Amino acid sequence: MQHTLLVTGGAGFIGSNFVQHILSVQPDIAVVVLDKLTYAGNLENLDTVQADPRFSFIQGDICDVETVRAAMKGCDWVVHFAAETHVDRSILHPGSFVHTDVEGTLTLLEIAREYGVSRFVQISTDEVYGNAESPDGLSRPSLETDAIKPLSPYAASKAGADRLAFSYWATYGMPVVITRCSNNYGPYQYPEKQLPLFISNAMAHRPIPIYGDGKNTRDWIYVRDHTAALIKILYAPSEHIAGEVFNIGANEERSILENAQTILSRLGKSEDLLTFVPDRLGHVRRHAVNSAKLQRVLGWTPSVRFEEGIAETISWYQKNTSWLEHVLAKKDLFLENALQLGIKH
Ligand SMILES: NC(=O)c1ccc[n+]([C@@H]2O[C@H](COP(=O)([O-])OP(=O)(O)OC[C@H]3O[C@@H](n4cnc5c(N)ncnc54)[C@H](O)[C@@H]3O)[C@@H](O)[C@H]2O)c1
Repeated sequence: MQHTLLVTGGAGFIGSNFVQHILSVQPDIAVVVLDKLTYAGNLENLDTVQADPRFSFIQGDICDVETVRAAMKGCDWVVHFAAETHVDRSILHPGSFVHTDVEGTLTLLEIAREYGVSRFVQISTDEVYGNAESPDGLSRPSLETDAIKPLSPYAASKAGADRLAFSYWATYGMPVVITRCSNNYGPYQYPEKQLPLFISNAMAHRPIPIYGDGKNTRDWIYVRDHTAALIKILYAPSEHIAGEVFNIGANEERSILENAQTILSRLGKSEDLLTFVPDRLGHVRRHAVNSAKLQRVLGWTPSVRFEEGIAETISWYQKNTSWLEHVLAKKDLFLENALQLGIKH
């Protein structure tokens, strides 16, 4: 093998899509997944690669130094997805987000420095920008050069990890690259998140909870377009990417209400299911990113339009009802509340 890649959080939504994608297109790579299997991690997400001799899995915590040392041994590249990721949970329990997202990233960076890895991809998020706006407050898609103004404890923890990773490039010359992607959707997404929550509730004829006036917007990207961008970044010449930040987005801005209406209409359900609930605390009005830099430097563009991606996603959830049943059987109280009643604070 030319490269051995450590993927943290590879049993989660984006991580598992990434592992499946890279193993299918890069014959020269071996992949080691390190994942704690929190409520969001699911080995079923990796079913299609379990038999691949280039794949191995370690259950463990990125905050544990010896676990990370053992997992990273022999790896020359790292892609770091593992994190606590749900904004609503971060409002309830900020401490666990700082622990995993900041301290876990610190542990990985330290061991990566010790081993001299030749590529470290920090999966950050567009949430670090807060509301998408220019320095003088004009609403427009975020640029990599914009100030970071995270609003939720999740976003603030990710911003800490993002800048910590950057500091390892600036201080130690570690070949770090940071990506800030917009909202992902697609197969294997835990149903606490907006689109799979709407899909599962619509399929089961349960209410669709809409925050506030439903007009908050996000820029939606199909997960496979995100993973394609990451593969491009991973294989790019170091001089094009080391110490750089890249936004990744699909120019598909849509409001919560529009998403709910699209899903209800595609599933042939009535809009009577729409149920307005009190707004999320500190709710960001608009997230959107300008990805021109990634297009200019590496020639990446998204290939899946929202209408096509959402059709694929709905069809995946319809075909994989046993996946959803297994997730629900874990009896996650937070998820049960979100699915049954809308989000409760
Ligand atoms: N989902 C999005 O729309 C989006 C957008 C931009 C960036 N991101 C970032 O992408 C990454 C992956 O997001 P996702 O939506 O796939 O998340 P997810 O919640 O589906 O998966 C997170 C994974 O990390 C694992 N994990 C959590 N804590 C761990 C720990 N201490 N040690 C080891 N593993 C641990 C979980 O078990 C799970 O498998 C995150 O860093 C997130 O901030 C997500």
